[in-house]
Amino acid sequence: MGACEGCSWPVFLGFLFTFGLLLCMAQGDVHTYTLVLQETQFERLCENKSILVANGSFPGPTVWAHQGDTVVVTVVNNGNYGVTIHWHGARQMCNPWHDGPEYVTQCPIQPKQNFTQTVVLDREEGTLWWHAHSDWARASVHGALIIYPKPGNEHPYKHDAERTIILGEWYEKNLTEMVINATRTGGDVDTSVAYTINGQPGDFYHCSKESTYRMTVDPNKTYLLRIISAIMNEEMFFGIADHALTLVGMDGAYLDQVTTSYIMIAPGQTMDVLVMTDQEPGRYYMLGSPFADTQAPSDTTTPSAILHYNGGYEPRKYPNSITLPGSTDRDSAESFMRLLKSLADDKHPIKVPLNITKRLYLTVSVNNVECAEGDTCEGPNGNRHSASLNNISWTAPNIDILQAYYRKLPGIYYTDFPDQPPRYFNFTGDVGDNVTYPVVGRTVVEPIEYGSEVEITFQGTNIPAAENHPMHLHGYSFYLIGFGRGNFSPNTSIPTYNLPRPPKINTVAIPKNGWATIRFKADNPGVWFMHCHLERHAGWGMAMAFIVSNGPTKETSMRDMPPGMPPCPGS
Ligand code: C2O
Ligand code: CU
Repeated sequence: MGACEGCSWPVFLGFLFTFGLLLCMAQGDVHTYTLVLQETQFERLCENKSILVANGSFPGPTVWAHQGDTVVVTVVNNGNYGVTIHWHGARQMCNPWHDGPEYVTQCPIQPKQNFTQTVVLDREEGTLWWHAHSDWARASVHGALIIYPKPGNEHPYKHDAERTIILGEWYEKNLTEMVINATRTGGDVDTSVAYTINGQPGDFYHCSKESTYRMTVDPNKTYLLRIISAIMNEEMFFGIADHALTLVGMDGAYLDQVTTSYIMIAPGQTMDVLVMTDQEPGRYYMLGSPFADTQAPSDTTTPSAILHYNGGYEPRKYPNSITLPGSTDRDSAESFMRLLKSLADDKHPIKVPLNITKRLYLTVSVNNVECAEGDTCEGPNGNRHSASLNNISWTAPNIDILQAYYRKLPGIYYTDFPDQPPRYFNFTGDVGDNVTYPVVGRTVVEPIEYGSEVEITFQGTNIPAAENHPMHLHGYSFYLIGFGRGNFSPNTSIPTYNLPRPPKINTVAIPKNGWATIRFKADNPGVWFMHCHLERHAGWGMAMAFIVSNGPTKETSMRDMPPGMPPCPGS
């Protein structure tokens, strides 16, 4: 069977297109949703503020389906600026058109316009999410995407009920204005002033106690928590007082179960965790503790929610609490990552590529670029902030790359992305005068031949402030086969690889001043973005795009450009 499940895309127009799509689906239901984006007033921390949200709520509505189903979503933009929506972790086989990253697969949906996206969930199962993929709009425009097993199939881990927990961030000032300003001056955006759990900061912030998120539960049951990190710029430790967490899934795939007292979740990731309500009926804190292991400015406040047992009992004055790893605890972050293994049973087999035909070694750096003559810049040392992969800072064109590729428009992008760092030095030590200024202003992509077995080793660098980077790839899930501290070295790093049971994920937290290696088979043709899921880094250019060529048949080729793509400015 072809990579696109033997589904060729008939060319229909308007709603007929959707109908045509149905014809080629072997089975599965179609769920239609409408996301109306609109500026809405919210009160947090005793301030009233307008933020862009979907359908009036923060976080936005949950979209759900069974595996094999299709979700058709119409995004209506009633806001004041252009926006796009991305289906984070949905592979979108042969359909990059509806993936969402701005200027990569589409141009923004302008105010008063709408756009309908089709998401075929033919292999993902578990928890994913959707979010805006234009500037920093995802801070307030996001929600859960839950995929249940096919009807008749069971979830491999028994549970009685489920709850969704979305971690987010709250900014004091108008984020759009801050981002416009930072883009102009090369400076930084102010950090958030609070983290949120299901939209609420919790007991440890002023004016917030009344609205702390309470998760009511019955005693002696097993709950499946679907935890999503919609946080913009920080990894987070998370735990529940006196309750063990049994990790069973991540990024829309199952894990071999493992019990832990805390998790470490990076922006972009999702984790499915079982919690047994086997403690004395009462109230227990669910806490977040930011893992902000960097010299960069960061929000180190503490979000909280309350696990609240139903029943008649006299509650203690304060909920029970938990001590989580602190903000620079790399050991706890990495020992948690070592717990991640695929379930890999008969019903959920894995297929790790073993004959690598395309290998990339990518340095991941935060850089500077020089301030233009006569300008004043607000980045470090009067420079502008920047960031790069293999010393190339992502520069978006003003027409999307997918369209330029499809229509063979010349001069929009170049295809000479380097497979190796341009210069070798002690990446994670004293970088000396290798604090290189990256290449800016040139859009460069990496072509990949259909069917290649791809391996990427990310190499964190010490330029100029090292940090953990959650790298996310669109269009694919990948196997995380290894990671470690320091410079990747074939002699010592490769023997540590976990090839039998690596976790299958879509976002990997690369250890600070360390490396991580992933593998995937390039069986999904199209244009696919890859970037750090810390928004400040992505915005500075820590990103790149792959163009995976079409396979030999129609079934292994990208579908034709669907109708209704948002027009690009000046096109
Ligand atoms: Cu969660 Cu490119 O995104
Ligand atoms: Cu980063």
